[in-house]
Amino acid sequence: MKILITGGAGFIGSNLVEYFLNKKHEIICLDNLATGYMHNIEVFIPNPKFTFIEGDIRDLETCKTAVQGCDYVLHEAALGSVPRSINDPANTNSVNIDGFLNMLIAARDEGVKRFVYAASSSTYGDSKKLPKVENEIGKPLSPYAITKYVNELYADVFAKTYDMECIGLRYFNVFGKRQDPNGAYAAVIPLWVKNLLNHERPVINGDGTFSRDFTYIENVIQANELAAFTPTETIFLNREKYLSEIEEIQNSKSSIVAEVFNVAFGGNTNLIQLFEALRDNLAKHDKEIGKIQAAFGPNRAGDIPHSQASIFKANTILGYNPKYDAKTGFEKACEWYFQKYK
Ligand SMILES: NC(=O)c1ccc[n+]([C@@H]2O[C@H](COP(=O)([O-])OP(=O)(O)OC[C@H]3O[C@@H](n4cnc5c(N)ncnc54)[C@H](O)[C@@H]3O)[C@@H](O)[C@H]2O)c1
Repeated sequence: MKILITGGAGFIGSNLVEYFLNKKHEIICLDNLATGYMHNIEVFIPNPKFTFIEGDIRDLETCKTAVQGCDYVLHEAALGSVPRSINDPANTNSVNIDGFLNMLIAARDEGVKRFVYAASSSTYGDSKKLPKVENEIGKPLSPYAITKYVNELYADVFAKTYDMECIGLRYFNVFGKRQDPNGAYAAVIPLWVKNLLNHERPVINGDGTFSRDFTYIENVIQANELAAFTPTETIFLNREKYLSEIEEIQNSKSSIVAEVFNVAFGGNTNLIQLFEALRDNLAKHDKEIGKIQAAFGPNRAGDIPHSQASIFKANTILGYNPKYDAKTGFEKACEWYFQKYK
């Protein structure tokens, strides 16, 4: 299969590139290196099945060139980070919405078999319901969350209007190798690992009781593979089963693939537990790290207290069955960061 992976020089994208190249697929990677890096993909360049196109998804022609001959699209390119979107909503909007629309148009015109895209748990917004279930969302709490919700709306309309197959994966706090520890918008895990390796005190925003469903990258890879390759008929059959279980039988006969799925482990770890897990894993290599205590700062704008996914829908329809709990993921990620940055 020939697969276009946008954002393939970024954290999640480069892990997808690596996995699908190992599976002998042909991979086109489109990335403008805004937050991704050549060093994430350098090792793949000599592989004849890998092509890197440096380009911007805000340019429709670039998207069309990249998707030529592709069977599947895994669309990961976006400007991530809630704080970035609060500081610069216009740029987040143009990449995440205009760029997304360009990719949908290019994929539609190319007639790809399926368009799988990175959605986000931020779409749950101010909903207090736990665990998060796909069909019950709240109001967005940031410009970033708006863009990710608009992606879902566009994908839904394209699926219905142009008979495309679109699947959105609502990622919950993904972490693992190659997630960027640098820059103002680094995610909490690589940022704290970097602090600890430098013998600095990580800062917990708030009192440390806020919790997240931290999701190891391998689980995300599994979800992408299932989302891309699960046969359409299987999706229809399993969707009927799923909808009857959640008592929405009236919609179960639709012949459209326009789904969103939570992608998480289904657990919860609060920030103090996270800090302790990272510290204790890194202290196996460097005893001094074991003595570091966290510092505490104010809550961040746009942060919700708790986020935990129900993965029942992805499990029932796609057969998603995450293999790595957060604890195992923290061990693996710490090992990777230690070897890389020691
Ligand atoms: N990491 C998470 O926890 C998480 C959670 C929810 C959703 N997501 C989504 O998953 C996707 C991947 O996130 P990530 O964590 O790997 O982030 P990342 O920043 O490492 O990767 C994003 C990639 O997109 C590229 N990109 C940005 N703007 C572009 C443009 N205009 N044209 C082409 N390429 C562009 C970047 O250079 C980068 O390589 C994003 O869509 C993000 O919103 C991530």
